[in-house]
Amino acid sequence: MERKNTVPKFPESYIGDKSEEYENSLSMERNQKKTTLIGIQYLFDENLNKIGRIDFLKKNPYLILDLGCGTGFSTEIMLEQGFRVIGVDILNDMLAKAVYKKPFLSNAKNVEYVLADINQLPLRNNSIDHAMSISAYNFITYGKEGFREMSKTVNNSAKSLYNIIKPNGRIIIEFYPKDEEELNFFISSFINNGFNGFMIKNNPRQKGGQTFILLKKC
Ligand SMILES: C[S@@+](CC[C@H](N)C(=O)[O-])C[C@H]1O[C@@H](n2cnc3c(N)ncnc32)[C@H](O)[C@@H]1O
Repeated sequence: MERKNTVPKFPESYIGDKSEEYENSLSMERNQKKTTLIGIQYLFDENLNKIGRIDFLKKNPYLILDLGCGTGFSTEIMLEQGFRVIGVDILNDMLAKAVYKKPFLSNAKNVEYVLADINQLPLRNNSIDHAMSISAYNFITYGKEGFREMSKTVNNSAKSLYNIIKPNGRIIIEFYPKDEEELNFFISSFINNGFNGFMIKNNPRQKGGQTFILLKKC
C-alpha cells in the first residue's frame, strides 16, 4: 500500500480546499497550539536571560509578531497567554480564516492580522517586543533559486527582523529544516545580523526534524 506523504508543501498545502482542511483538522489545531505553548516557555528561557545584556522577561502584555500565523491557531494561544499579537501571513486563504474568527475571541482587541510576506514586513523599526514563528519559517525561501538568492532572502529577513524588534527582543522559531545544512543556513542568517542564541531539538540525534531556535537581539 502506498504511504501518504504528509510533509506539507508551500503553497499547495495552504490554498483552496487544503486551507479548509487545515482549518478543520483537530489534530492540526492541537499540534499548533501545543507547539506554541512550548515556544512561549522558550521565550522565557533562563539561558536567553544571560545572552547579551542580562535581563529577565516579566509577565507583561508584550507585543508579539506571529510570523506565518496561518488560520490563527498559534495566535489564539499567544492571546490566551496575555500577549498582544500581530499575526502575519502571505496567503489570503489562510489569513481570511483567522480574520473570520477574530470577533469570537474574548480578547479580539489585542490582535491585528496583516496580509504580508515575512520577507517584506510593513512594520516600523523598534515597534515589536518579540517574534515567534511556528511551523512556517522554512517556507520563506519559496520560489528562490540557488544558494545566492536563498541566502540573500534569509539574510534580508533576519536584518529586517533585527530592525523591527526592540533592543533585547527575542525570537522563537519552530521549524522543520530538512537537514543540518539548511538548519545552519537559517541560524547563520540570524547570527550574522545581530542576534545570538541557541537551538533545541526534541531528538538531538536527528539532523532534520522539529527544531526550536531561541534568539535574542544583542
Ligand atoms: C503551518 S502553516 C500555519 C502555522 C500557524 N502557526 C498556525 O497556527 O496555523 C504555515 C503558514 O506559513 C505561511 N507562510 C509561508 N511563507 C510565508 C511568508 N513568506 N510570509 C508569511 N507567511 C508565510 C503560510 O501561508 C502558512 O499559512
